[in-house]
Amino acid sequence: MSRLLVRDLSQLASPAGGDGPLRGAALGEVDVVEDAYVLMRDGLVEEVGPMRALPPLDGDVEEVDGRGLSAIPGLVDCHTHPAFAGDRAAEFALRSAGATYEELLAAGGGILSTTRATRAAGADRLREIVARHRDAMLAHGTTTFEGKSGYGLDRDTELAQLEAVRAAGGIPTWLGAHAVPPEHADADAYVDWMIADVLPEAARIAVAADVFVERGTFDVEQARRYLLACRGAGLALRLHGDQLSELGAVPLAVELEARSADHLETTGRAGIAALAASDVVGVLLPVAALYLDRPMPPGRALVDAGAAIALATDFNPGSAYCESLPVVCTLACTQLHLSPEEALSACTVNAASVLGLADRGRVAPGLRADVVLLDAADWRHLAYHFAGDIVHTVVSDGQVVFSRA
Ligand code: NIG
Ligand code: FE
Repeated sequence: MSRLLVRDLSQLASPAGGDGPLRGAALGEVDVVEDAYVLMRDGLVEEVGPMRALPPLDGDVEEVDGRGLSAIPGLVDCHTHPAFAGDRAAEFALRSAGATYEELLAAGGGILSTTRATRAAGADRLREIVARHRDAMLAHGTTTFEGKSGYGLDRDTELAQLEAVRAAGGIPTWLGAHAVPPEHADADAYVDWMIADVLPEAARIAVAADVFVERGTFDVEQARRYLLACRGAGLALRLHGDQLSELGAVPLAVELEARSADHLETTGRAGIAALAASDVVGVLLPVAALYLDRPMPPGRALVDAGAAIALATDFNPGSAYCESLPVVCTLACTQLHLSPEEALSACTVNAASVLGLADRGRVAPGLRADVVLLDAADWRHLAYHFAGDIVHTVVSDGQVVFSRA
């Protein structure tokens, strides 16, 4: 039996609304306990409360001094692309001089340039790379991450990416339909090949499947065919949709009862209403919009319409080279016009529900002991301190796994 007590916290903040996905007013409800403790045992939260209610503890208890700190649930990043080799620094420079993301991809760069580097890396190197990115995410407070494939686009590399995410403790999503690699005649031929040759193995490792619905990648018909096959193999469904153009990804997500539709930078009123009337979670990725200088997704309108939303980094080498959910929270408040409370729920309990995880995302008895201590007495510094590196200590599964000191 191992117990960990975090004591004398200035504040403990946790989404109040129960299991996700939270929507409407419930998204913005956060319980704040002042002068708080969190007691954990065997990887689970045992009790939380104000210090005055802390019972006498006997036996072995490891203590962490929370004075001057606030605590929030371990952050959940439900959309990342961490299994890549190489970088796109040269393309970043070209984009700064005016080249667009679409032009670079159409010229065989973008996702396809990362695919060449990733194919060359090999499975061992990919495992090291994902573990390194996992550690960087941890230092920003992320205790659970989803990680996509999508830079192999061949059988062995796609499977190696999924294995690397799993080996690093992440939740793997098969993004076979990310781009069409040059050895296939067209998107239809590539979809046929993936379904026949990769899906049976990918479905053994991955939890969900994902597709990039966009001009130059996959249209709605191809996405439907791919996703239906993936659903038949037992995978949950997700889509990259409405990032650069609105091509029907949201109606498809609703039709197929996908877990999420991600990006939504170009989603209009009909798409907002369709999401609000469905159980599909809109995963908003404001770093990608900022990084590509695109319009921000309609976060406030989605929440006000009653849609369930989550926030994620979209960490990847092309459109969002950023591991920080605290930065995402700042952008959510300043650009998407969410409250700090809504932002917190969106990257904890709601992000967990996109991943099908009901055991985390809040700090409450019986849930996983994933807790982040912030170097600020008011937990809202999570969003307020822009790129402030305020993660002080990270507890995952009841163990201190990161400490800035
Ligand atoms: O979510 N849009 C498609 N996929 C990623 C970017 C991948 C890349 O550029 O390498 C995204 O933005
Ligand atoms: Fe993405």
